[in-house]
Amino acid sequence: ESENPLRPRSLDQYIGQEKAKQNLSIYIEAARGRGEALDHVLLFGPPGLGKTTLSGIVAAEMGVHLRVTSGPAIEKPGDLAALLTNLSPGDVLFIDEIHRLSRSVEEVLYPAMEDFAIDIIIGKGPSARSIRLDLPHFTLVGATTRSGQLAAPLRDRFGIQLRLELYTPEELAQIVNRSASILGIDIDEDGALELASRSRGTPRIANRLLKRVRDFAQVLGEGKINTEIAQQALSRMEIDEMGLDANDRRMLDIIIHVYNGGPVGLDTLAAALGEESVTIEDVYEPYLMQIGFLSRTKQGRMALPPAYAHMGMEYTGQLSF
Ligand code: ADE
Repeated sequence: ESENPLRPRSLDQYIGQEKAKQNLSIYIEAARGRGEALDHVLLFGPPGLGKTTLSGIVAAEMGVHLRVTSGPAIEKPGDLAALLTNLSPGDVLFIDEIHRLSRSVEEVLYPAMEDFAIDIIIGKGPSARSIRLDLPHFTLVGATTRSGQLAAPLRDRFGIQLRLELYTPEELAQIVNRSASILGIDIDEDGALELASRSRGTPRIANRLLKRVRDFAQVLGEGKINTEIAQQALSRMEIDEMGLDANDRRMLDIIIHVYNGGPVGLDTLAAALGEESVTIEDVYEPYLMQIGFLSRTKQGRMALPPAYAHMGMEYTGQLSF
């Protein structure tokens, strides 16, 4: 993954997330100035916004090594102990999907984060004893889709907590232009904006669409991406003018037609769609809420008037203001 040429390597190259970026650059400069490891960093926000990328940048800016793993990959406390005892001073350990760590692994992580030490049990039965092993001062960068998924004791141990937001079409257009220049793709301003405005606020999607639209431009056009080729390609991929794909539209269709616009409970909606509730919450909903198509209420999910208009439906719900 670290070979992906589209990943920015420094904060300077990283487009968007201005608030997170500005604060992070202060924390990095300060820690460097003191000659210390950076405090532990929690990154949260919808998938595809650059959490892994940012952890690589933190390591690069601090001038240390990066070790990458994920919550599900750390099965036993011993797996985590092995990772931790192999770090050098200041190193960054990135744990993606950190909300999926098991309780027993979390128990090892707490003293590691707080005291830079782990307790190892030696022997069995009455003669068993625990010895404390000191660790180098390291930086844990944890990533999760929502901070609310994390156990409070774990969340509280991150001295730096950064929320990543969906990108604006203008920011995504900058990313598309940067990626196109790295990949040697010819794209004009309007073509980049067309792609950007259909990427659901997500750089990972923008970069994926850029590569697919390039294929269409190469085979059906003259290799250059302009508005017309972008529109033609995206329409063939069933991505509509708002960037909604078949899954997004199916979800809106079910809320509107099966549940009369809502409110419909998350689990009911998940069952109707054949999706996991967390996928709906993390992947579908952030963008639909951002563009004002969906609202999450106590009673459940509701389709809003712009969603009806987009789906070519007359609004039949009741909104009380
Ligand atoms: N590629 C993916 N995310 C990016 C970002 N935020 N800035 C620049 N390039 C990117």
